Amino acid sequence: MRFFGTMKMNNNGNLQIGGCDSVKLTKEFGTPLYVVDEDLIRGNCRTFKNNFAMEGIDTEVIYASKAFLNLAICKLISEEGLSLDVVSGGELYTALRAEFPAQKIYMHGNNKTRDELIMAIEAGIGRIVVDNRQELELLEYLCEELDKKIDVLLRVNPGIDAHTHEYIQTSKNDSKFGESIFCEDICSLLSKFKNSRRVTLKGFHCHIGSQIFEEQSFYQGISVMLQFLDRVRVECGFITEELNLGGGFGVYYSKEDTPINLEKCLKDMILLIKEKTMHIGLNVPKIMIEPGRAIIANAGTTLYEVGGTKLTYGGKHFIFVDGGMTDNPRTALYGAKYEAVIANKMNLENIETYTIAGKCCESGDVLVKDIELPEVERKDILAVLSTGAYNYSMASNYNRIPRPAVVFVKDGNAKLTVKRETYEDILRNDLLI
Ligand code: LLP
Repeated sequence: MRFFGTMKMNNNGNLQIGGCDSVKLTKEFGTPLYVVDEDLIRGNCRTFKNNFAMEGIDTEVIYASKAFLNLAICKLISEEGLSLDVVSGGELYTALRAEFPAQKIYMHGNNKTRDELIMAIEAGIGRIVVDNRQELELLEYLCEELDKKIDVLLRVNPGIDAHTHEYIQTSKNDSKFGESIFCEDICSLLSKFKNSRRVTLKGFHCHIGSQIFEEQSFYQGISVMLQFLDRVRVECGFITEELNLGGGFGVYYSKEDTPINLEKCLKDMILLIKEKTMHIGLNVPKIMIEPGRAIIANAGTTLYEVGGTKLTYGGKHFIFVDGGMTDNPRTALYGAKYEAVIANKMNLENIETYTIAGKCCESGDVLVKDIELPEVERKDILAVLSTGAYNYSMASNYNRIPRPAVVFVKDGNAKLTVKRETYEDILRNDLLI
């Protein structure tokens, strides 16, 4: 069991986060409740900014907002001086409504729609990350129509096989993302950019996967990408100004996870870039990274109220909570593992092995399998840890269950950043016929 950030047991034997008693939070805001530790997010942003830096090398840390996005986090990320990665019109709209500086927004996506591209061009965002040749053509056409210019990166796929869950691997040779660095007509694609009056190619983007624990995968990504930059320089006469290496830094969810030493890995990435570019004879481009999970995962905790327990005839001891795969689909989807505690019984010993199940009408609706906890009773508050990334952002209304509220906690204050959905919210787009 690992606690992160400001988490601890308080004098009442309750879980405390950001100086707030989690049991009191549930009384004030209800359950399920996403609780976000503001100081930990800020600390993580600083870890990235401070360590992914070196004198004489231009670097940029871009928060991958798909991990968790609302108006409040945009403000926080902007205050910490990070840039923002968005992958859809909805994410872009959120960032713009939060008045996130448009020039610091990067837009990804393998199939951006015409409307999404128009929104991005009109907002004057910093970079669009072009996925493929057809998108370049569409972008060129739209910029012409709107009489605008745009700077872009081209997403390429370096074919690295990072060891992670198959669903979140993005860079094997059959990935749907980007153009392969091995594609033979890369120069013809680059010349399309060169001939464009509206679209300026600044460099390349790659992302080798998510929840990666092997530093070597990042170093390998760098080596392969720098060789690629050399190849396009020699073969196509293209000088790369910017290189975005994507995200993917793995985090601790359970004892099975052994995250990398982030500070060291970030420093070593830059050192490697410096050495390799010197060796190859390349100018060091501006280097970007795009962490999502590593900034937000450990800063999130989900609080549930226990509705009851059930010992099945087959011997499984269930705890039933008032949320489930609707607020955290990761266990059902990826077999993700989480740690959990009984927030109001932190000083009691674990005596029983339970499986925590949600309330959805589906047997796969399990949050945590086989976890040791103290004796659990109805009305206890269960806290699932490290739910900051890809929980709220992947939540659904399956079974017409309203999505939970989100509170940010800091120094004993809790700020509501997303209201709990109501049944009326669920009906808001329904039309009776
Ligand atoms: N940049 C790009 C282009 C990406 O595709 C991703 C994640 C990131 C950055 C951020 O990766 P991170 O640092 O968060 O690992 N829903 C899955 C994760 C999907 C990740 C997709 N791309 C999960 O819950 O594990």
